[in-house]
Amino acid sequence: MAYAYLFKYIIIGDTGVGKSCLLLQFTDKRFQPVHDLTIGVEFGARMITIDGKQIKLQIWDTAGQESFRSITRSYYRGAAGALLVYDITRRDTFNHLTTWLEDARQHSNSNMVIMLIGNKSDLESRREVKKEEGEAFAREHGLIFMETSAKTASNGRRGIY
Ligand code: GTP
Ligand code: MG
Repeated sequence: MAYAYLFKYIIIGDTGVGKSCLLLQFTDKRFQPVHDLTIGVEFGARMITIDGKQIKLQIWDTAGQESFRSITRSYYRGAAGALLVYDITRRDTFNHLTTWLEDARQHSNSNMVIMLIGNKSDLESRREVKKEEGEAFAREHGLIFMETSAKTASNGRRGIY
C-alpha cells in the first residue's frame, strides 16, 4: 500500500516484560499467553492515518536476553522512537532501565524519542514497582511515560495502540 511517511520504531527491555505481546496487540489485536522467546529480532508493521496522510509504522521487536544484546545494538540506527519496556511485577526489570537507556542513547540518533512503558498493569496484585516510580524515572531522564497491559489492551487507541 502506498504511504506518505515511514517511521521506524524499536522495542527494547528485559526478557519476558511483554515486548512481543505489545507488538502483537498493536498489529493483530490479540494476546499471546505463552512466552515465545524472541530470537534476535522480529518485525511488525501497521498503517495509521494522521491528517489524512497514510503513515507506515515499522516496528522492530528485539530479544531481551542478554546474549542478544549486541544484535539489538545494531537495530537502533534510523529509529524515530524506542519503546523501553519494564514489567511492573518484576523489580529487576525496572532496575535494569539505566543500562538499556545508556545503550539506546549511545547507538541511536540524538533526536530519537524514547517512551518508557510499565507493562502488565492488569496484574495489580503482583505489582512490585509503583506507578510513581516509573513517572519519576521518566521525568529524571526526559522520557514519555505510560503504564499498559498487552493483555487487556489497556492504554490502547489514544495510548500506544
Ligand atoms: P523476549 O522476547 O524474551 O525478550 O520477551 P518479551 O519481552 O517479548 O516477552 P513476551 O511478549 O513474550 O511476554 C512474556 C510473557 O509475559 C508471556 O507469557 C506473556 O503472555 C506475558 N505478558 C506480556 N504482556 C502481558 C500483560 O500485559 N499482562 C499479563 N498478565 N501478561 C503479559
Ligand atoms: Mg519477545
